[in-house]
Amino acid sequence: MSRIAYVNGRYCPHRAASVHVEDRGFQFADGVYEVIGVRHGRLVDGTGHFDRLDRSLDALSIPRPMGRGALLAVIGETVRRNGVVDGIVYFQATRGVARRDHPFPKAPTPSFVVTSRRGIGPAPAALAEGVAVHAVPDKRWGRCDIKSVGLLPNVIAKQAAREAGAYEAWLVGEGDLVTEGGSTNAWIVDRDGRLRTHPATNAILNGITRQRVIALARAAGLSVEERPFTLAEAFGAREAFLTSTTSYVLPIVRINDRPIGNGHPGETASRLHDVYARFAAEQGEALS
Ligand code: PDD
Repeated sequence: MSRIAYVNGRYCPHRAASVHVEDRGFQFADGVYEVIGVRHGRLVDGTGHFDRLDRSLDALSIPRPMGRGALLAVIGETVRRNGVVDGIVYFQATRGVARRDHPFPKAPTPSFVVTSRRGIGPAPAALAEGVAVHAVPDKRWGRCDIKSVGLLPNVIAKQAAREAGAYEAWLVGEGDLVTEGGSTNAWIVDRDGRLRTHPATNAILNGITRQRVIALARAAGLSVEERPFTLAEAFGAREAFLTSTTSYVLPIVRINDRPIGNGHPGETASRLHDVYARFAAEQGEALS
């Protein structure tokens, strides 16, 4: 089946899907995006992602490209036309096309694109063996809570991680505090068995997976603290792991080549992966 993209009101072949050269997303990264998991043809935490999209748009005063019913219809149609049953759907809204000038155009018509592809969840080997992360300074702006397409610092951090042989970058801010990963949220299990992850401030993207894992962990009787941890605390942690839409819950076994815990995937992270994977498979929201 050939891939189909939705671009500003039309479904077109993926290879021909394009936006205008003066789209403000292209010229200024003046746009926001979401990635939602699709399991058994249903959206994993769709409502949470749609709410976050609205929040990102509002924070940047970008008009909503369409109402939620229409959004769901377009996303559902793109998922169906690509034959995606287990995979992801990506969508992006920008402030639209305007003559290049930094201030907002007077009456912008937002651009809206949707793509979808197969494949979700961590690779079985990554889950079984755990992954390495590489710590780099967090050089991003002060509104990391907005899911902006301005991802250059994240791209550079992840490239540095890949070159160091690691799966993900851990971004380290002021006071040696780990904010989050390049495209994932960061967690440790401390010496007392408490789960710790950075609070949902402007310094991180409040992951939908993060929020779901907090709820699932608490429901399973685990103690979760939304409190930052330092890189030094992470080195001494019992376990470390990351969460995201595409990676679910993935154990971390090395940070900068130093083993975490016993150097193998931790019991809590592996258990939370299974709990989250079950949630994703069973509790998806229907596409219209
Ligand atoms: N990344 N932190 C950052 C900086 C992210 O870009 C992401 C998501 C997350 C996890 O958020 P969620 O659980 O809602 O996926 C945290 C997406 C998947 C991406 O850029 O592909």
